Amino acid sequence: MARLPEEFLQRLRDANDIVDMFRSYAEVKKRGRTYVCCCPFHSEKTPSCTIYPENQSFFCFGCGVGGDSVTFVRKMENVGYMDAVQILAQRAGMQLPARSPDEERTANLRRRCLEINRETANFYYMQLVKGEDKRGLQYFLQRQLRPETIKKYGLGFAPDAWNLLRDHLRSKGYHENEMVAAGVCRQSEKGNVYDYFRNRVMFPIVDTKGSVIAFGGRVLDDSKPKYLNTNDTPVFNKGKNLFSLNFAKNASSTTFLLAEGYMDVIAVNQAGFDNVVATLGTAITPDQARLIAQYAKEVVISYDSDGAGQAATQRAMNHFADVGLPCRILKMEGAKDPDEFIKKFGRDRFRMLIDQAGDVNLFQLERCKQGLDTDTEIGKTEYLRRVVQVLSEIENDLQREVYISRISHESGIRKEVLLAQVTEAIKKHRYGEKRRTFRAIESQSLQRDELNPDAKLFPRESKAEERILAYLMQYPEDCEMLWQRIPPELFRTEFHRKLYVRICTFCKETGSFDASAVQEELTVEEFSRLIGISARYRDTRVTRNVVEECADVLHQAQQRITPGEDMSDDDLLQLVASRKQKK
Ligand code: CTP
Ligand code: MN
Repeated sequence: MARLPEEFLQRLRDANDIVDMFRSYAEVKKRGRTYVCCCPFHSEKTPSCTIYPENQSFFCFGCGVGGDSVTFVRKMENVGYMDAVQILAQRAGMQLPARSPDEERTANLRRRCLEINRETANFYYMQLVKGEDKRGLQYFLQRQLRPETIKKYGLGFAPDAWNLLRDHLRSKGYHENEMVAAGVCRQSEKGNVYDYFRNRVMFPIVDTKGSVIAFGGRVLDDSKPKYLNTNDTPVFNKGKNLFSLNFAKNASSTTFLLAEGYMDVIAVNQAGFDNVVATLGTAITPDQARLIAQYAKEVVISYDSDGAGQAATQRAMNHFADVGLPCRILKMEGAKDPDEFIKKFGRDRFRMLIDQAGDVNLFQLERCKQGLDTDTEIGKTEYLRRVVQVLSEIENDLQREVYISRISHESGIRKEVLLAQVTEAIKKHRYGEKRRTFRAIESQSLQRDELNPDAKLFPRESKAEERILAYLMQYPEDCEMLWQRIPPELFRTEFHRKLYVRICTFCKETGSFDASAVQEELTVEEFSRLIGISARYRDTRVTRNVVEECADVLHQAQQRITPGEDMSDDDLLQLVASRKQKK
């Protein structure tokens, strides 16, 4: 792929303001000419991510991720450079410059997959409502779905046959390879292509743009496996999409409900709650938690009331905590899941259930009782131990106070006793946390620098190189002068040399510099490093004098590595190390 034209990238960034992009993921605060926020790429409570509107970049001093709006999308959506550019262009309604044949092919396959999915959804729907075999329709009706609900979700039926869909798609002009790529057909060892979903009621999965991207198919009886789901395809990634998000994203409520199953979602939606989603046959991923956080201000986890559901709740809670989305937990009694609850008790009772859903602490405190007989001395002691642990992790003082009173009231443990133990536990945490942070810092400085392994061997030179790069980015017009004074061979670390050559080449060609222009050839980590250098030297500009000193450092180092009698032991060791590395 030829490099994207500078002018295009400029327009792309103008159309996707970096501050706005962060705003949709995190709370952004103005601080002078910059903005800060809690980094969306690692979990933290005090903001260490800085956003620079002046050059449309960001850098997190906590985790070291940095870049521009394209990097943001690369990280957030976990996609490559070109995909990220495409996403931004689409968002801004911009045309992408012409593509290479390879990219053309991929884009084509994606388009065909989407078309096949749409055609397949239609086919299954027609089979459900018009087909001879009425078992699918009977199944849905018996589960009390209304016809308009079936239509709204585009539910379908895959008949009990091996080739019906394949032949239908063939007649529409699709190639068997494409059907297999889209995931609606499979290929046998002998090479025969056959329908993947058979004798199942079908749930199409629709993305936020309204495209059908995958399917889930449920058996009509108790046979196994209960569900078949589309595996990942060029247009589908099961960990990055949610069932019914196409409806939930337009819901009037900013509280989302997270249910476990397709049938739960549909039943809840039919009862008048548009704000409900489910994962696609897997436990919730951090990507999905982030996706929900994009649309919701709060989430109520409405998993099944069985043990598996409760364990899954615990895991989901952790993911929501990581992305900073407040969550509450629905406590269902007398029904195993939301679908059954609504059927038994009606939608008004379900609404009450949502309103009464307790916060995370309540859920944790309830779980402390699990498996204990609190009438016995041993049970009581263990309960106290667990409760103290949970209470000591509540950060808000006032909230903690409220729960302590509550537990004391419920359990008969004296409030003073609880308070004393909790205070003690908090002290221990704080100490532990400090030690952990200290260890983390310590081990970080001992860790190998994967990106720039030479930096450990040549710390002084590496630092000088960093300053030279910073200077170069600040004064691109001096690139010729620098190139003369400091030819790239003088760079002792390969990584910095690579950046130096790239940037100088660009500056010489265009007479200016813009970090985004070199992003395409770099990984997110490499690019982050570059942005980090630029961010660290933003306020303490590198002067011409300093850059001269840095040049001297590199020149001296160069002289030292010419082997001679006056080499010190250290120099000799360095030399050996550098030779070893080159091999
Ligand atoms: N699931 C799956 N594969 C299975 C079982 C479950 O992918 N073999 C996923 C499906 O996404 C399903 C969800 O897990 O919707 C919840 O499973 P379950 O509660 O068993 O299914 P429900 O959709 O609630 O179906 P039903 O009410 O008919 O039991
Ligand atoms: Mn269920």
